[in-house]
Amino acid sequence: MKIAVIGAGYVGLVTGVSLAEIGHRVTCIDVDHEKVAMMTKGYSPIYEPDLEVMMKRNLHYGRLDFTTSHQKAFEGVDVIYLAVGTPQLPDGTADLQYIDQAARTIGTSLQKGCIVVTKSTVPVGTNIRIKALIEEKSMNKIKIDIVSNPEFLREGSAVYDTFHGDRIVIGAENQEAAAVLERVNQPFNIPIYHTDLNSAEMIKYASNAFLATKISFINEISAICEKVGANVDDVALGMGKDRRIGEHFLKAGIGYGGSCFPKDTNALVQLAGNNQHDFKLLQSVIEVNHSQQTKLIEKTREAVGDLQGKRVALLGLAFKPNTDDMREAASIPIAHALKEQGANIVAYDPIAIQNAKQHLPQGICYEESLINALTGAEVALILTEWKEIKTLDLSHYIKWMASPIIIDGRNCYPLNVVEKYPIHYFSIGRPTVNRRSVSVSVN
Ligand code: UDX
Ligand code: UDX
Repeated sequence: MKIAVIGAGYVGLVTGVSLAEIGHRVTCIDVDHEKVAMMTKGYSPIYEPDLEVMMKRNLHYGRLDFTTSHQKAFEGVDVIYLAVGTPQLPDGTADLQYIDQAARTIGTSLQKGCIVVTKSTVPVGTNIRIKALIEEKSMNKIKIDIVSNPEFLREGSAVYDTFHGDRIVIGAENQEAAAVLERVNQPFNIPIYHTDLNSAEMIKYASNAFLATKISFINEISAICEKVGANVDDVALGMGKDRRIGEHFLKAGIGYGGSCFPKDTNALVQLAGNNQHDFKLLQSVIEVNHSQQTKLIEKTREAVGDLQGKRVALLGLAFKPNTDDMREAASIPIAHALKEQGANIVAYDPIAIQNAKQHLPQGICYEESLINALTGAEVALILTEWKEIKTLDLSHYIKWMASPIIIDGRNCYPLNVVEKYPIHYFSIGRPTVNRRSVSVSVN
């Protein structure tokens, strides 16, 4: 089918390239001229494993192209996907200005009816609004069908998740539209779950809110584990063996960031409030997450006392590994808190440094080499569990740091390994290890 995707960001670009990969003719539209020029040459503006090679392949076979012109992209189109950003407003509600802008553009540009698919995360009831806006703006009174097809892509594995998802949710107002979307997605060979528009929109918010709840729950358990001398990683493993609980999203750490969990949990609390329901549980999930992010500062002060003038290495800046995305990353509040307390910060990240510079305070020294970041540091805080950090031999902390003190926000190392080194090691929900008196030959 001929498909247009409006918005070539983390979600729209992966969606467009993947639809081309399964045989559709896809045009991705974006307002950002620089991005469009870059993608036309086969370069991805975002870091997503496997994306760029798939882009190049489909550009080569003529199944994919990029443009800033909606008119050109809509000629003879069968399906239009909406994947523009829906960031959160200061009051926590979703900012739908880009969705509305795209809907008006569809209304004024479309020559014949087609199916419009909302891929972006939007509050319940938005799809109906989009359809009305498009038909209101259409000069030649076209009729469109609207379908809600929320995404469940994790950044850093978005291409993998597109081809290996557990389900594709299709919310439609009639069988014909649902059948077309079933045909579009059939080559993914993933179970398709059909429902109505409002339920499909709610599935997205409820799924993200539940995953965020699991994370805040295990982070609360980690706080209790620290007090009673339990190991939260072992607790999570023991819990997760119960299929009703499931092993995923029970990793204690400094909390969740990213462009979705923070935005979608706030939006759902607002949506509930707008419908006279006080969503207390989800409000607690959000509060727990905020306090979790700055817990590392308390541990750092416990370890090294006053931070004034201390050289602090921040290891990992992106909100999670395998992405360059800094949106709501825990490193942002932590770096600001350290700076306010006079720390002298050196920051390492293998991919996200360029983006990090837009979010972190001035006066931070950035290092693309982990060893350079560690050199001379009096304490190291691990904020993102990059493979480069998880696989680093612990002897490097002793060899290069002024004092081998690690505050691990992502529990990168097993305690039975740490105990073999003269290191002072703090982590989340696990006993502290202080073996600095132990002598070990460090070559
Ligand atoms: C977005 C939403 O934020 C998320 O809630 C939803 O689940 C999926 O879509 P993301 O892809 O991360 O996620 O958004 P972003 O990275 O901001 O990309 C949006 C793209 O749309 C940008 O490339 C932007 O240039 C483009 N855009 C924005 C348009 O093409 N037209 C507009 O009017 C506005
Ligand atoms: C999430 C959802 O997983 C995805 O389905 C949705 O479409 C978009 O939002 P994403 O935010 O890209 O995806 O990444 P994810 O892997 O879910 O991690 C989100 C945050 O939670 C990260 O900051 C990560 O560090 C944190 N996290 C995740 C934990 O702290 N513990 C965990 O066990 C899992």
